[in-house]
Amino acid sequence: MNKKLRVAVVFGGASSEHGISCATAAGVLSAIDRDRFDVVPVGITRAGQWILAADDADRLRLEGANVPEVVASDGAALTVGLGKGAQSLVAVDAANGASRVLGGNQVDVVLPLLHGPFGEDGTIQGLFEMAGVPYVGSGVLSSAVAMDKHYMKVVLESAGLPVGRYEVITAAQWERDPAAAIARASELPFPVFVKPCRAGSSIGITKVKAPEGLTSAIEEAQEHDPKVIIEAGVDGREIEIAVLGSPTGPARTTLPGEIIVGGDHEFYTYEAKYFDEDAADLVWPAELPEETAARARDLAVESFEALSCEGLARVDLFYVDGGDLLVNEVNTMPGFTPFSMYPLMWQRSGLSYAELITELIDLALARPKGLR
Ligand SMILES: Nc1ncnc2c1ncn2[C@@H]1O[C@H](COP(=O)(O)OP(=O)(O)O)[C@@H](O)[C@H]1O
Ligand SMILES: [Mg+2]
Repeated sequence: MNKKLRVAVVFGGASSEHGISCATAAGVLSAIDRDRFDVVPVGITRAGQWILAADDADRLRLEGANVPEVVASDGAALTVGLGKGAQSLVAVDAANGASRVLGGNQVDVVLPLLHGPFGEDGTIQGLFEMAGVPYVGSGVLSSAVAMDKHYMKVVLESAGLPVGRYEVITAAQWERDPAAAIARASELPFPVFVKPCRAGSSIGITKVKAPEGLTSAIEEAQEHDPKVIIEAGVDGREIEIAVLGSPTGPARTTLPGEIIVGGDHEFYTYEAKYFDEDAADLVWPAELPEETAARARDLAVESFEALSCEGLARVDLFYVDGGDLLVNEVNTMPGFTPFSMYPLMWQRSGLSYAELITELIDLALARPKGLR
């Protein structure tokens, strides 16, 4: 029998999506093909401490209002650094000095299940690149650009892809002249959506109906990111497409799905995403004219390519009455619990959650290391 591949499953992290990442890890630890893979679970606490965590999915599940968390007492604290000579990421047990090699010949591949800054934004990808360790998903540049709702739009626009109107307010601009920033934002048609540029799960986002609401919404977004983006509200349906890289040909896509937000939720908020089961219907496939569905899939692949994504991405679009499609965002580490849209869309397309994980790991191992 072939030797099993060792996979470091990394979860938690410093972003506000820490708990969601743990929930994803619970799903992955339960489903990953144990006949092919040996799993090394690595948790990162909110403070940034790496922990050799227990292989215990139940502890990490999102149940009711209980948001799971990696804490220092979960396992041995690891000090992570680059190996000497041989390309590897070395994790030293901080207490007794015993070293474990993450990468090199001990861990074959890393599966980073991290969302948001310091996980989905190219920073940890840079660490893996420096160490020469294969990892699942997009590389440094692509992760960084896709994480930043400002630069993502800059790149998509320059590739000729349709995006909505927006204004960006940097911390320096806000400090120098908030009135000018407000004046710029007020030129947009209301309602607008005020967002931290680099966040996710709708954290820090406010729908603002009139210019009077801008200041408090901007300050709220700044709690999460000093750089804020303000977007013209789009009156359209929310369409999502799962994109999966291919080692040889163009990326593959699912048929589009649709998120229909209901109840008391003004938009697809954090609560609607994770804490209110009745808040949103995930419809797949979305009821769309055939040519719209085909165009949406083309836009998803073009967005994936424009951003040089690898492995996986979920491309979210708005479908505006009258037929226009706008790209809202590209998520390089989309929600990935077994109940999340990305795995569900693949599952309904014939690729199970476990098969999807295997496929992503195989893609990571198939791609060349270094510049590509
Ligand atoms: N420009 C917009 N027009 C209409 N709704 C929006 C707009 N931007 C965001 N939303 C709503 O807010 C949700 C979260 O925004 P999004 O940009 O996807 O951020 P996140 O990265 O946190 O998911 C969307 O799913 C949608 O419901
Ligand atoms: Mg979104």
